[in-house]
Amino acid sequence: ARITLRQLLDDAAEHSYGVPAFNINNMEQGLAILEAARATDAPVILQASRGARSYAGDIMLAKMMEALEVMYPEIPICIHQDHGDTVATCLSAIQNGFTSVMMDGSLEADGKTPADYTYNAGITGEVSRLAHMVGASVEGELGCLGSLETGGGEAEDGHGFEGTLDRAMLLTDPDEAARFVAETQVDALAVAIGTSHGAYKFSKRPDGEVLAMDLIERLHAKLPDTHLVMHGSSSVPEEWQAVFNASGGEMRETYGVPVEEIVRGIRHGVRKVNIDTDLRLASTAEFRRVAQGSKSEFDPRKFLKPAMTAMTKVCTERFEAFGTAGNA
Ligand code: G3H
Ligand code: 13P
Ligand code: ZN
Repeated sequence: ARITLRQLLDDAAEHSYGVPAFNINNMEQGLAILEAARATDAPVILQASRGARSYAGDIMLAKMMEALEVMYPEIPICIHQDHGDTVATCLSAIQNGFTSVMMDGSLEADGKTPADYTYNAGITGEVSRLAHMVGASVEGELGCLGSLETGGGEAEDGHGFEGTLDRAMLLTDPDEAARFVAETQVDALAVAIGTSHGAYKFSKRPDGEVLAMDLIERLHAKLPDTHLVMHGSSSVPEEWQAVFNASGGEMRETYGVPVEEIVRGIRHGVRKVNIDTDLRLASTAEFRRVAQGSKSEFDPRKFLKPAMTAMTKVCTERFEAFGTAGNA
């Protein structure tokens, strides 16, 4: 059944668990995530970026979500717009059946320029007012996502800023967060603690200097009733990097967010954990491994089936580690 982010995260807070929010662009990801949810009895958040919506098309995505609901009737499913950049993006998502939207006003609509507080609170508050009229939930973001190692500098996948940002812009301020939540009435708040999107988050295993988990504790103390969201939360597992690199892939040494740090966040108010890269990496690594091993094969299902199994394995591990398992 389809549920809102608010309904799901209220339950997660009551029972002290976190929910991974997996990005989805295609059928294989959808089936892989829901198989893991069924195996572990976990509720799910399926989130589509603007890129996902233009890749698959709104109708295909909406009908696919419907199909997943019919196939997995016992699983509560929240359908969420990831990183909406305008009011129109958020409203058209709701028109397409999404039960939740993120209005990311931490950046201006160019997706590169850090926005000021007034712009962010204004546009997020507007989306919040409109979405709540029709029963949809809203996630806002305060602080800019980006690496504390490089000052938010250009990530390899094009995410990131031109030039560098102050450390202060890359860390959410607790007092400002309290004001933002009060003014915008968001249901969940994405915070900046040093994580970034993509595979290249940290050049070594992250410590407190580059991954500010202590800030999560301070934010939760200030905002005990606000559901916190961690973006850029892929762990970029070494074992999948190894499979990828052993089958012709080229990924240089990199570290993600350790699962145990996320678990620590979940003990302090983190309820939604965004993961895209880990499923991309596991599926492509497996796809490559099979392709490398059978060069005459040209039936895509022979590659995609193992890729789905790899994604299901990653999802199952996260549902178990985050305590989502058993809460469908
Ligand atoms: O925001 C980052 C997510 O991983 C979505 O990425 O915009 O390439 O679909 P995308
Ligand atoms: P990763 O790139 O770490 O998977 O983060 C995804 C994300 O935050 C989507 O909004
Ligand atoms: Zn994100």
